Amino acid sequence: IREDPPAVGEYIANYICKRINDFAPTPERPFVLGLPTGSSPIPTYKALIKLVKAGKLSFKNVVTFNMDEYVGIPREHPESYHTFMFREFFSHIDIPPSQVNILDGTATDLVAECNAYEERIKKYGGIELFLGGIGEDGHIAFNEPGSSLASRTRIKTLAYDTILANARFFNNDISAVPRMALTVGVATVMDSREVIVVVTGLRKALALSKAVEDGVNHLWTVSALQMHPWALIVVDEDATSEL
Ligand code: GLP
Repeated sequence: IREDPPAVGEYIANYICKRINDFAPTPERPFVLGLPTGSSPIPTYKALIKLVKAGKLSFKNVVTFNMDEYVGIPREHPESYHTFMFREFFSHIDIPPSQVNILDGTATDLVAECNAYEERIKKYGGIELFLGGIGEDGHIAFNEPGSSLASRTRIKTLAYDTILANARFFNNDISAVPRMALTVGVATVMDSREVIVVVTGLRKALALSKAVEDGVNHLWTVSALQMHPWALIVVDEDATSEL
């Protein structure tokens, strides 16, 4: 528990920095990092960018896999997760774009796209560390309430609550928010060797309490992490108000 979102971001960035540096990645043995979108990870991205600019961290030998992407909006759309990731993070660090993996929500065969994503993760020997955020309904990536805890990368219809929550990024126009997304599954996240989840703000307080104080269940999919051997949840004071 840290005081506020900037302190949470700083803590996670320093943690990731140490993990990457201790791993000492090379082109033959890159560090495989899973990444989220949303407002919660932005302070972490800011702090990571600072570490790169200060010469304390490099992403030259890091391969990334993003958690999810909307279906039906082009990559160039200002609110696609592709655009978000380059705007908030990748454009400011030294990662070669060829080492960035983001699901393609415009693929003609979306099922094939999801299966290929899982294969690509496997090819790299799995994800070393998955950083995630959660929705107010406790979803991890876009694993909405009711998702199987054994789910893999697939197409998911967004919950109405998620559409409402994300309308703020689409000029509060609910009709402009995509109805579907591609997302890694709960099991894809569970397979990674380590998971860090960032939860900040009052809006997430109920989801946090369901995640850690209720049983493991498919209605609050982040609760699956109770079964993960190496999971860390980093929160601010506000998010703890229902604990
Ligand atoms: C979207 C993303 C999730 C993210 C969530 C929370 O639904 N698919 O991966 O965790 O937003 O967003 P925020 O951090 O902006 O509250």
